[in-house]
Amino acid sequence: MTLSVTRIGKTFVGEVAGIDLSKPLDADTVQQIKQAWWDHSILVFRDQDLTQEQHVAFSQNFGELQGHTVKDWLLPTHPEILVLSNRGRGGVKPLENGGAYWHSDITYEAVPPMGSILHGLTVPPEGGDTLYADMYAAYEALDDQTKALVDDAVAIHNYKHRYMLMAEGGKRPDPTEQQLAEWVDVEHPVVLRHPDSGRKALFVNEGFTVSIKGLGKDESNALLARLYEHSVRPDFVYAHAWRPHDIVMWDNRCTMHSATPYDAESYERTMHRTTIKGTPFQHQAAA
Ligand code: SIN
Repeated sequence: MTLSVTRIGKTFVGEVAGIDLSKPLDADTVQQIKQAWWDHSILVFRDQDLTQEQHVAFSQNFGELQGHTVKDWLLPTHPEILVLSNRGRGGVKPLENGGAYWHSDITYEAVPPMGSILHGLTVPPEGGDTLYADMYAAYEALDDQTKALVDDAVAIHNYKHRYMLMAEGGKRPDPTEQQLAEWVDVEHPVVLRHPDSGRKALFVNEGFTVSIKGLGKDESNALLARLYEHSVRPDFVYAHAWRPHDIVMWDNRCTMHSATPYDAESYERTMHRTTIKGTPFQHQAAA
């Protein structure tokens, strides 16, 4: 079969029609999905009422899956699935405001994931969209002076800063000794070269990037603030309004995302996410 993909964002995001993700996929179809993923960075599939097993099986077409440093959010029956639910479904702790800030997933690890696949099980009738930013477009729109400044720069990422902000706001329990020991600084290029598309993408995010290596605190903060503001200009952003059983898969190396508010007292929002392991980054300068 030939995959039908329609561009629905300004610079990225493809909606894929005519495919049932609950069924095993042949190698040719998987290859077409991969190519569409590299071409559009984000793929949207509507009306895919997948079981947990089917969600995991579909995700495994793209690589090995990984869990999360906070084990409380992993589904006990399928620890490859991270549950983002304000009602704490499946024996998992409720997660208020999970991912409601601009970030790429798990960039605080030495090898961040290549992508994530989110299944909207129960979605509120209004609000609770997910915003996505195109980090290729953000990089390409930088002026030459800023490109020269960031092209060879290295950033430090760490989860501790973000977690403590949420813990201090009462949104997370105090971290355990083990978590604190795991959350060490890691380094990533500020601009990476995508291993499949060959394009350059900006790779800093408000969630987990803490500084630019070699710059003083004020200079680093000012540059990061400027890059964050630039990256989420409306031209580079797609807002996904969820319908039940949408599947959205994003390439974590060239996009950021942020969940948006909704009335969590009145409505349930339950999402299941699988996360696909990545490979070490190439610096943008590498061929
Ligand atoms: C996430 O940050 O992975 C989840 C985003 C969402 O819940 O919309």
